[in-house]
Amino acid sequence: MKILLAVAIISLTMSSAGAPPSEAPTGFDNRSNGLVDQATHQADQVKFDEVEGVSEGLGPLYNAQSCLECHQNPATGGNSQVTELRVGHEGPDHRFHNAEIPIAGGSVVISGRTLVNDRAICPSAAYPSTEIQERVPNTENIRTTRLAVSVLGDGFVEAVADQTLVELARQQCKASHHKICGQVIYVPILEAPGQTGVGRFGWKDQHASLLSFSGDAYLNEMGITTRLFPDEVTKLCNTASEPNDSPAADGLDDLDHFARFIRATKAPARDARLAATPEAQRGSQLFAKIGCAVCHVPSLTTAPAGTKISAFTVPAVLGGRTFYPYSDFLLHNVGTGDGIVVPMQEHYGPKIYQAKWKNFSVEEYHSARFKIRTAPLWGVRLRSRLMHDGETVTLHDAILRHAGEAAEVTRRFSKLSRKDQENILQFLRSL
Ligand code: HEC
Ligand code: HEC
Repeated sequence: MKILLAVAIISLTMSSAGAPPSEAPTGFDNRSNGLVDQATHQADQVKFDEVEGVSEGLGPLYNAQSCLECHQNPATGGNSQVTELRVGHEGPDHRFHNAEIPIAGGSVVISGRTLVNDRAICPSAAYPSTEIQERVPNTENIRTTRLAVSVLGDGFVEAVADQTLVELARQQCKASHHKICGQVIYVPILEAPGQTGVGRFGWKDQHASLLSFSGDAYLNEMGITTRLFPDEVTKLCNTASEPNDSPAADGLDDLDHFARFIRATKAPARDARLAATPEAQRGSQLFAKIGCAVCHVPSLTTAPAGTKISAFTVPAVLGGRTFYPYSDFLLHNVGTGDGIVVPMQEHYGPKIYQAKWKNFSVEEYHSARFKIRTAPLWGVRLRSRLMHDGETVTLHDAILRHAGEAAEVTRRFSKLSRKDQENILQFLRSL
């Protein structure tokens, strides 16, 4: 049994050539991980940082003017304190239903979404009497905030084979005697119609591709339409022509620059000084011993270079790399879920049901209603707010908030001596 497991682990971590995998580069220096040269990376970063205005297509409904505004700390692509508002309601069928938000005095209803955009471009000089600010009606009684997350190192996450995550879920469930069973959902890859991948990005694992996520963010955070999301959320007050994002002289859309920027980021670096202390090292052992590492998996290895993951072929610098995300990227019910199901139209566009997607099951999304992706703990020391809603502000409170699948592990934490609890916290502060 032990030997079998060892063989399985080795086969998951060997790269194609059979050589041991090399480590993913780390750092908060905004330098390229090697995917592109530094000048190209800097040019991509300029796009990520760029502040968009109404004439470039910003809005009509939006949350912020640049990717950087929410992904900034401590370097471009990092985290921030920004949260967004999501709401919906339970219908008479006891199922979750997306929000219906009347705007413009009730003449238009925004539907098919759970995101409530906090900003709008009118009333304005051009549209003095059109009011489109979204406000939550009382009937939308399921409400939560969701905190911005870091995108640093996400190119490595994207390059993990679906099968690695599927296998991880299987082994975790078996080893915990069905107490901890992460859920995998297959999500559409918008740039490859019909194809899906194992979701790994966002609090609800709503995307598998960084290009798809970038299109989603450009529309839903900034109101900028693209080839992947060609339709505005509302036409009211809209002046720019669609899609707002069109190819530049180099043939690339902003979208392509965002995805390449993220793919070329280095993984978050640890605090090497703290990590070397006996307290953090003891904390790291306890973290594994009491079961935190079952979900917060210390290391993963990307697929070998050249592997085709839907529309994306793993490039040489991202292939066969080991990285340390402290996450299984699977969905779990740890008692914190907000009860909001991933809205299909918002994340995958209004034509989602026109194509047939492999392994795509809306029922799977409904069954994950109260689940959240295991928060990757890399870089957690640099986050001022914690958990999906940003409502928790200390590491200790974050741990105690875990219930559901994590109840037994949380109990074990509570039973540790104060000193050992402090060792685990010291370990987390080194991540
Ligand atoms: C108003 C704030 C805001 C803006 C602007 C914003 N994001 Fe985000 N971003 C978030 C939040 C919040 C999440 C978590 C989303 C969720 O799952 O609910 C997120 C998640 C992501 C993720 C998933 C990362 C992961 O590891 O799970 C990617 C990729 C991303 N954003 C890219 C972008 C890009 C590209 C832009 C610019 C086009 C952008 N974002 C603009 C707030 C923002
Ligand atoms: C069953 C899986 C599971 C286990 C076991 C587990 N966690 Fe988590 N952890 C999660 C999930 C899921 C979240 C996100 C919950 C949310 O945002 O509502 C999370 C969030 C966190 C966060 C917040 C991170 C952030 O950036 O917001 C910390 C810190 C954390 N866990 C530490 C621990 C520690 C320490 C242990 C062991 C005592 C542990 N976890 C055990 C699944 C797990």
